[in-house]
Amino acid sequence: MPICDYEGSRYRTEFWGRDRAYEDGAERLAMRALLPPTGRRLVEIGAGFGRLADLYTGYDEVVLLDYARSQLRQARERLGDVGPGGRPRYIYVLGDFYRLPFVPGLFDTVVMVRTLHHAADAPAVLRNVSRILAPQGAFVLEFASKRNLKAILRYLLRRQDWSPFAPEPVEFVPLNFDFHPRWVLSYLRRLDLRVERVRAVSFFRIGFLKRAVPNRLLVRLDGALQPLGALFPLTPSVFLRARAPADRPTAPPGTFFRCVHCGSAVLIDQGDRVVCTDCGAGFPVEEGLYDFRGEEG
Ligand SMILES: C[S@@+](CC[C@H](N)C(=O)[O-])C[C@H]1O[C@@H](n2cnc3c(N)ncnc32)[C@H](O)[C@@H]1O
Repeated sequence: MPICDYEGSRYRTEFWGRDRAYEDGAERLAMRALLPPTGRRLVEIGAGFGRLADLYTGYDEVVLLDYARSQLRQARERLGDVGPGGRPRYIYVLGDFYRLPFVPGLFDTVVMVRTLHHAADAPAVLRNVSRILAPQGAFVLEFASKRNLKAILRYLLRRQDWSPFAPEPVEFVPLNFDFHPRWVLSYLRRLDLRVERVRAVSFFRIGFLKRAVPNRLLVRLDGALQPLGALFPLTPSVFLRARAPADRPTAPPGTFFRCVHCGSAVLIDQGDRVVCTDCGAGFPVEEGLYDFRGEEG
């Protein structure tokens, strides 16, 4: 599967450093409303430089997974490894959301924000997420919604050829996908994940409004509208929390990583690499980052 490669990108400074305080604030309100505040183990898939990691401090173990080494390096520089007493312990994993290197049922909470929109095969990614959720585990997902007001207006004015009402995902720029809320919700149902709460987010993603209205006010307004907007989301961003059923398998004690080549859960951490005892594949550990992208073989 093609990967939207952020290696060496200036995502932190160029995207979040410029005029995005409103989006960041609105997303944090949604996260606070949906994220179980405490737990044993959380993973964020596509964590980037760890923008949202300060929301995870109620967990014992926080795994940040991303495909781009430079993003995770920045995350580690910001957060360190912390661990016992200082809570949480951070684990940095270079990996691919199509081949997650974790045993089934490992995580109380899985977070994915601004990341599904890079998935050409979103069903495969959602299946992988579902597999690593513990019984009754929570999945906090953000997705870019194609049925947003701007897209609807552009479509009605014939400035856009794809319909915001059609259920299938649309690739509006290479490797950037928007999803119909109904499509996402129905796929989660197929995976037996029960959608508990939805929030429509970023009502005011409009340049002149962001410049004219004080940011704190705009964020508070967004927060107040988020639950109401969820009845029929028309915002560019939608957050939700889904729950895994109680009868899922739990990860056996002492297991954690899973070989991305053969699926074995018996791996030995040798310090500078993790080795699969079944197929012999090796996964380097460099600068505190576990590299499970599986390029070494
Ligand atoms: C838009 S950023 C979001 C970062 C973070 N979640 C946030 O909200 O600030 C998308 C992230 O997804 C990662 N990504 C893209 N394709 C991936 C893949 N196949 N597997 C894992 N991560 C991927 C990118 O490297 C990038 O850091």
